[in-house]
Amino acid sequence: MSSAALPDRYAVAGNPVEHSQSPFIHAEFARQTSQALIYERLLCPLDGFANAIRAFAADNGAGAVRGCNVTVPFKLEAFALAARRTPRAELAQAANTLRFDAESDGGWLADNTDGVGLVRDIEHNAGAALAGKRVLLIGAGGAAAGALGPLLDARPAALVVANRTLAKAQELVTRHAGIAGASALAACLPHEAGSSFDVVINATASSLQGDAVPVNAAVLAPGALALDMMYGPAAQGFLAWAEAHGARGRDGLGMLVEQAAEAFFVWRGVRPASAPVLAALRARLAAKVH
Ligand code: ATR
Repeated sequence: MSSAALPDRYAVAGNPVEHSQSPFIHAEFARQTSQALIYERLLCPLDGFANAIRAFAADNGAGAVRGCNVTVPFKLEAFALAARRTPRAELAQAANTLRFDAESDGGWLADNTDGVGLVRDIEHNAGAALAGKRVLLIGAGGAAAGALGPLLDARPAALVVANRTLAKAQELVTRHAGIAGASALAACLPHEAGSSFDVVINATASSLQGDAVPVNAAVLAPGALALDMMYGPAAQGFLAWAEAHGARGRDGLGMLVEQAAEAFFVWRGVRPASAPVLAALRARLAAKVH
């Protein structure tokens, strides 16, 4: 069989990677859009990401390897590895999507679809338009960095980045100052975040570590949307806190599906419908729990 007849190959690269839902999501997208592709898991050694990616990209015997998603802890390395970066990856200084374009086409492209996925989930799936709203982003690590640019693109009235290490929040804000437009963009410590935000986004690992939510409940306007980028047990602490204080809790599953949909579009030029895949993913995870 010629390789032209074989499906294109993709993977999610990370460490750990065995619990990643990306293979399920992309298989659903491929089925829905009739795209011939295979999507695998690629466990990369902690000290050998670049070599593992290069070997995967060169392994074209079973179908052309076209790209990969990148997850924890390699998003910074993925960004560094590419010949070209999209503006949103430049702002994030991190990449969750690589497209292995030929050198004659400019070489590997690094993109970051996390923030666009987050905004699409908030605005389309959760129905909370961000324009003119007060938004609090908690955390200033890689996850927050990916979100900030696309959140600003949605034109909130105010966007506050709160982090326990203030200098990291300030650095993030400084890097994004040029695209803030009319949005009031500021950095602060979590307990100084102020009050009455319409949308509160947890981009910290605090729930994962079983720690208390680092901000005061006064940050939540009545009926606010409170979204944790995590899902499953890791999001429960934040969601319980939000709902106990009158907010609408939302986990990170919608963001996960939306960032995947955007990556699928970057690779295939086809935009899949995310809603049925999000529903299928929720059902799949619920069935695993029970
Ligand atoms: P990620 O790629 O998931 O964003 P990261 O870059 O290590 O991971 O960033 C983790 C974020 O969670 C940081 O903002 C971190 O705060 P510091 O910058 O002060 O380290 C935040 N974080 C982690 N544990 C936390 C906790 N228990 N309470 C509050 N913030 C926490």
